[in-house]
Amino acid sequence: MAARLRLLLSAERSWRAQAAFAALLAAAGAPGCKGPGTPKPPELQRPVAGVVVAEQSLAVEVGQRVLEQGGNAADAAVATALMLAVVHPQAGNLGGGGFALWVPHVGEGEVVDFREVAPRRYQQDLYLDADGEVVARRSLETPLAVGVPGSPAGLHALWERHGSGSFSFAQLAAPAIQTARGGFTVGPYLAEDLASSGPGGRIAADPTARARFHRPDGGPLREGDLLVQEDLAQTLERLAAEGPDGFYGGRTAELLLQTLRTVDAREGLLAGDRLMDAADLAAYEATVRAPLTGWFRGFEVLSVPPPSSGGFVLLQVLSILDGLPLETERDEAGGPTARALHWWIEAMRLAFADRAEHLGDPEAFPDPEGQGAMRTLEVPLEALLGAEWIATRRLAIGERAQPGVAPWVPTPTPESPETTHLSVLDAEGNAVALTTTLNGTFGSGLLVEGAGFLLNNELDDFSIQAGTPNMFGLVGAEANQLYGGRRPLSSMTPTVVREGGQRVVLVLGAPGGPRIITSVLQVLLRVLVHGQPLEEAVAAPRVHQQWRPEGTALEAALPDGLRTALETTHGQPLRTGSAAGLIQAIAVDPTGQPTGASDPRSDGAVGVARGPKGR
Ligand code: GLY
Repeated sequence: MAARLRLLLSAERSWRAQAAFAALLAAAGAPGCKGPGTPKPPELQRPVAGVVVAEQSLAVEVGQRVLEQGGNAADAAVATALMLAVVHPQAGNLGGGGFALWVPHVGEGEVVDFREVAPRRYQQDLYLDADGEVVARRSLETPLAVGVPGSPAGLHALWERHGSGSFSFAQLAAPAIQTARGGFTVGPYLAEDLASSGPGGRIAADPTARARFHRPDGGPLREGDLLVQEDLAQTLERLAAEGPDGFYGGRTAELLLQTLRTVDAREGLLAGDRLMDAADLAAYEATVRAPLTGWFRGFEVLSVPPPSSGGFVLLQVLSILDGLPLETERDEAGGPTARALHWWIEAMRLAFADRAEHLGDPEAFPDPEGQGAMRTLEVPLEALLGAEWIATRRLAIGERAQPGVAPWVPTPTPESPETTHLSVLDAEGNAVALTTTLNGTFGSGLLVEGAGFLLNNELDDFSIQAGTPNMFGLVGAEANQLYGGRRPLSSMTPTVVREGGQRVVLVLGAPGGPRIITSVLQVLLRVLVHGQPLEEAVAAPRVHQQWRPEGTALEAALPDGLRTALETTHGQPLRTGSAAGLIQAIAVDPTGQPTGASDPRSDGAVGVARGPKGR
């Protein structure tokens, strides 16, 4: 098998639990996953062996059963993510990418970066016409929007590097294959998302996607309809049998490339030679990175480095806030006062300004003008997270909003929107926070004919033109320019918080573009600073600030008194728009007992695994 992973380990695995396969298959699709608060039957009152939280209950159930049958957090995360590719097509995927943060109960964490990559012939002018104007929708709904998918390589790498050895990859894929083949009942959230994506939406626009997600008599599938995906089952089988080679080569690769060519011709794009080809697919590798790590109130916060901006923004905001007396700014209910919220917002504004200017893929890429030379767009993380810049930023926060703040300037001397998240904690205390995406809801809306999976539109996350916002309203600069072989800047923020350098106390993440970062931040602050129980912290109303636009979005549930104080006392310009990503989180109390919380804004569920290996 060709390596699909930089830093691949060649560990031989012993497959101990063939019996688990049969049990897993038997369990798939059976009821049993309970939301928080549902009474548990007496036979389930065994020690808690782990927790899975994700955005779809069938997927949670699969992860829960893997834990119950002796799998670890990585096994459960892989099985859950593969199931999400079947039952949560809005964002669960094979045709997209993401980041997985593995934090073992002892030792260093590791990030598996399986972000999509721009096909090698793509250049910064890809979405511009002859006059240099952005061509509407080209970066969102056409074959040119599609990055080389990373999820098949990434999930395989997570299993290969960190799985318990008790399950083969094929065993972890079995429930997803069975559900794709046998079908599942469309729930209210999928029905709602399908309804709002048509008519005229992305699914309706693509005949293959329409055939999959619409009823034979027209109109999107409705709640209660059965969704059968035989071609997706076969794609998963090829991946399960051959590993990533069964996706990046052979039949699946042929079908993917054929779909891109067919749509290219149908839409008259005539991208021709520039389109993704077999060499782009064959070259894809997941990348292993060290987590980006910082400290807040004595807790170690581990998150993801570039090409996601999530870890950077989270850590810069936390570092700024770490020097402010947050504990003295509690309202009567224990939550933040308007002054504390103002500090949160200003710190978000400052960090997002640096994000726009300086963040992008740190890897070297072939310089299109360099005759084989490589080029790197440096990400000055040390300066941006250094004590001097953090102190400067903290001092810049006054009593009034400062929309005009500028990003860090180097001195001559030193140098869904839709994504989905799952959190897993196992009996040993290993954690996985995994965020994956197609970018937009249902991605580009292009379904690979004969292979049954949707393709991402991730390349819209590049800075298409200085000052032109992407679908999340984010602007960027040269650091995030599109060149073949680069990964677009992400906001995904799978995060784990540890105490004492070992004990995991929080595992969390969310979908929602830039709101991912600010949602993770606010739940973390509410739990660690305000001592709010996890469910309360996740449900609490949120604010969102991303530098541009200048205004801050507030959730409607934010009390009027706080809204007024932010506007009048602190001069915060407000704007309409969504302020929250859908958090899927686990907290562990000092006795070691975990609690899961799935954002009440989402369709998610908490799966509590019970078994002999209790915590
Ligand atoms: N496509 C959303 C993100 O990566 O931030």
